[in-house]
This record gives sequence, structure tokens and C-alpha cells, in this order.
Amino acid sequence: MAEQNAILKVGDKEVELPVLTGTAGHSVIDVRSLGASGYFTYDPGFMATGSCESEITFIDGAKGILLHRGYSIEELARDADYLEVVHMLLHGEAPDAETYKEFKQTITMHTMVHDQVNNFFRGFRRDAHPMAMLCGTVGAMASFYHDDLDISDSEQRIRSAYRLVAKMPTLVAMCYKYSIGQPFVYPSNELSYAENFLNMMFSVPAEKYNITPAVARAMDRIFTLHADHEQNASTSTVRLAGSSGANPYACIAAGVASLWGPAHGGANEACLNMLEEIGTVDRIPEFIAKAKDKNDPFRLMGFGHRVYKNHDPRATVMRESCHEVLAELNLQDPLLDVAMELERIALSDAYFAEKKLFPNVDFYSGIVLKAIGIPTNMFTCIFALARTVGWISHWHEMLSQPGQKIGRPRQLYTGESQRSYVKIDK
Ligand code: CMC
Repeated sequence: MAEQNAILKVGDKEVELPVLTGTAGHSVIDVRSLGASGYFTYDPGFMATGSCESEITFIDGAKGILLHRGYSIEELARDADYLEVVHMLLHGEAPDAETYKEFKQTITMHTMVHDQVNNFFRGFRRDAHPMAMLCGTVGAMASFYHDDLDISDSEQRIRSAYRLVAKMPTLVAMCYKYSIGQPFVYPSNELSYAENFLNMMFSVPAEKYNITPAVARAMDRIFTLHADHEQNASTSTVRLAGSSGANPYACIAAGVASLWGPAHGGANEACLNMLEEIGTVDRIPEFIAKAKDKNDPFRLMGFGHRVYKNHDPRATVMRESCHEVLAELNLQDPLLDVAMELERIALSDAYFAEKKLFPNVDFYSGIVLKAIGIPTNMFTCIFALARTVGWISHWHEMLSQPGQKIGRPRQLYTGESQRSYVKIDK
């Protein structure tokens, strides 16, 4: 709703731009008509750009608030399970008991992947990074499922969303099993979403995997805490890919690719590698000094966030979960000592306070994943598994909106001005 206008004045030219106000958060200046005046807005990194209208997730970075469909992440992590969160992200509402039962059944019935997918895996080297395999196999799903590729049909879009949410744990576990040379483990319908994933990761035909409730709960919580996060890099990638009319599997593969980078989903893996490199508490000052040194590109992985400038509410929940799991499993992990001391020093250091750098969710999730027994190179795959619902919910929302357009940013051109081409033989 435009309640007021902003006036942009450049020289003697004035452009009137509507100011749009949502239900919460920053209002936006609608610059869609600006191009005609001979100007574009310029915002590399999208520091102050709203790319879309969305009803899914709200973040107030200054106050450390994260809401999915209006529910706080703290409440969801405490009282809901991941599939309830999946339902609300995708359909807008938390399910009642009956709807939940049906929804869970539907997801469960979609967990197996086409048997040909097994052959597809055999093309990868065993030492391939699991994210490389995930990128490829998610994209390849478009070649297996042909009855949900009409993106103009909302029913087909939902079917592909269900398939993706259901099959991602299967694919992620297959990436792991393939990399360690163990046979793939099929999904098991009597298990919960998180239990099924753990079972596909850790059981072998020769031996049953004993699922500890605390571990299953922690796994489910990790999924919930990573389920969606507004218009982050990978979600924006999925939206941009989808805006051209690409199929859902190709779009999610694009999201996986974008998530892989260490500034985004790759941070949990990078964080654990960093903790291992630090090794002992006495070496922390050396790394803090490196992080503060302007001439050193080193950054404390798991610290800082583009949007949260107070605290990351997901990190608070994850920190609790981290302590719970380690106590439950009776694990004394020296990395946790390093992590806790690093957290303490960084939080009391003026550099980090000034730049508003706090531990983010990935700082703690890596430690929990390690405690569960998940190898470091699988961390980002697990993030991708959990975020798939966020990506596909945004994709579905975008395609449901009237007047949806292909994403096509403009630029500030700084190259050569037009010049004549001289033939190579002259
Ligand atoms: N360690 C040391 N200094 C840092 C860090 C860090 N982790 N993060 C930012 N800074 C400094 C940075 O050097 C810059 O200093 P200056 O103003 O003097 O140039 C200032 O803080 C602002 O940094 P920025 O890179 O301009 O901030 P950004 O909003 O563009 O980047 C970020 C946010 C998350 C990419 C960045 O904080 C970072 O690289 N953190 C480490 C990686 C990480 O943990 N990423 C996971 C994010 S949470 C999971 C997810 O949602 O994907």
C-alpha cells in the first residue's frame, strides 16, 4: 500500500516514487518507474534492496527476531517439529493434528528416489565433495520426475516441493554412503523425518543403528533452525533461477550451488575446520589477532551476519542444543572448550563489539553435527537439506504472484565506450 511518496531530486529533475509499507519491518521505496527517468538504483550486494514481496519469513536484524509465518524461531525450535515447520512455510499455516498426520504420510511416501539415481552416483569419484554430488543429483531429478515440471500448475509445484523435501535426506545420505564406500540405505517408513535421515546415514546392512532420542531431537532442531531465512544469497538465487521459468529441481540445484560458499552455508564446515586448526585454547589470541588484522584476509568463521547486528536468535537456541547434546552423549569435546573460549574472548573484545560481530547459528551447529557423528564435509549438505523447504516455498510463492517477471538487474557500466573494431590482419 502506498501511503506516501518519496521525491528523488537529481539536478533539476524530480521523480516521485511511492513508499510501500508491509506488515512489519522497513518500508520500501518503489523504484520500478525510475528507469524511464534515465537513472537506475545501484546496490551491489543488495545492502538496501528489497527484491520481492513475501509473506513467509520476517527478520528484524537489530532486535534479533526471526519469524516464520509469524511464529518465533525460539517457539518453533522448542515446540514444533521440522515437518510442522515445513508445512507452515509451504502452506502458510501450522497444521492441525489431522492435517499433520496426512502431511507426514505424504512426505514419507515420497522418500525413495528412482532406482536409476543409484547408477547416477556411480559416475562420481569417491572422493568428490558431497556438495558436488548433491548439486548434480538434485539437478538430475528433473530427468526422473516428469509429472511435476509444469510450473504454471500450482498442484504440480506442490508435488515437486513434497518430492524435494522428502528426497533430500535420501540424496544427502546417499552422497555420504557413496563417499565412504558403503551401500545405500533405503528410507524406513516407521521412522520420523530426522530419525530416518540418521538411519540412512549410519546404519549398515550388517548392523542396526541405535537412534538416541536426544540425537534425533538435535537433528530435527538443526533442520528447523536452518529451514528458511528470508532473501539470503541461496534463496535469492533460487528465485532468480525460477523467475526464468526453470524447473524446480534446476532451481534447487542453483540454491545448493549458492549455499556452498564459505560466506553462506559453507561456514559451518569452515568453522569446524577453523576450530580444529586453532586446536587449543592458548592459541586463540593468535587467531583473534589475525581476524582483527586488516592485512590478513582471515575471518572468524561462524561470526558475523549481514542482517543480525545484535544476536542471531538461531545461535541462542543452537547453543542450548549444543550443551544438551554433549551432556546427553557424555562427550567431552576439546573443540567445545576452544569454541566456548573463542566465544567468550570475541564477545568481550572491542573490535567485535564495534563491528557488531556475534556468533551465528553455524558457530554452534558444527559442534552439534560433529557430536552426532556427522563428518565435517557433510555439514553444508545438511544445511541444504534443511533449507530446501525455504527455497521451494519462496519459489512457489513467487510463481503464485500475479505479474511475476523474470529477474533482470541492470548495471553501472564502466568499460570502454564504443570504438571501431580493427580486423585482425590489419
Ligand atoms: N571475522 C572478522 N572480521 C569480520 C568478520 C569475521 N567473521 N565478519 C565481518 N568482519 C569485519 C569485516 O572485515 C568488515 O570490517 P571493515 O568494516 O573494517 O572492512 C566488517 O566486519 C563488516 O564485514 P562485511 O564483510 O562488510 O559484512 P557483510 O555483512 O558483508 O558480511 C558475513 C557478513 C556473514 C559474510 C561476514 O560476517 C563473514 O564473512 N562471516 C564469516 C562467515 C560466516 O560465518 N558466514 C555464515 C553466516 S550465517 C549462515 C548463513 O545464513 O549463511
